[in-house]
Amino acid sequence: MRTPIIAGNWKMHKTIGEATEMVRKLEELVADSSVEVVICAPFTSLSSLSALGLNKVKLGAQNMFFADQGAYTGEISAAMLLDAGCEYVILGHSERREIFKEDDELINKKVLKALEAGLKPILCVGETLKQRKAGETEKVVVEQTTKGLAGVSPEQISQVVIAYEPIWAIGTGETSDGNDANQVIAAIRQAAAELFNPELAGQVRIQYGGSVKPGNVKEFMDQPEIDGALVGGASLNAEDFVGIINY
Ligand code: PGA
Repeated sequence: MRTPIIAGNWKMHKTIGEATEMVRKLEELVADSSVEVVICAPFTSLSSLSALGLNKVKLGAQNMFFADQGAYTGEISAAMLLDAGCEYVILGHSERREIFKEDDELINKKVLKALEAGLKPILCVGETLKQRKAGETEKVVVEQTTKGLAGVSPEQISQVVIAYEPIWAIGTGETSDGNDANQVIAAIRQAAAELFNPELAGQVRIQYGGSVKPGNVKEFMDQPEIDGALVGGASLNAEDFVGIINY
């Protein structure tokens, strides 16, 4: 059985004060949930959130660099994220791929470093609208999955979470329908089965992301292949995010 995992990706939102206020609330409101709840906050808030002594809400970062340390101005290492209380790190988000030109090779290095350090990567994959219209969705996500997971060992793979986020559905209010997302996620799981084996691939949790809201989350969570959600906009407000967690 795969434990559902619902993660909020706050992107570049919330000061330390705003972040702690919301996570305090969330910690109370979802204390009894059987779902694993993660908040991926900006770097600046992580240690303050960790200092709250959270029991339920887990912390994640939104990016990291693959080197251990060194002259990499502006970058953050896996050890720094662990030190700040993170258990998860989002890697290869489409905004990182598109705006900051991250490619599969770089993302793969980050995935390997995160795992080596003991962080659980949330590896994001997803197609553009153009690729979808050209019928390339499965080919694109399978390639991103295969390249992103290159070199991951059979012992490590159960620590990886994959997020399928069709780029055209992120922040647009457009969503994939449950069936369609389920089918793409099945293809991602098949790619993992080919890299490892069906049993290990069956342990990997794969989320759907892209305009998930309290009103549509159930459609996705009811699908057999979908194990959770990666939520942007609707994770910024406690009421909406709790509504999603209590799908
Ligand atoms: P959204 O973002 O829920 O605002 O569409 C999802 C994401 O980018 O992870």
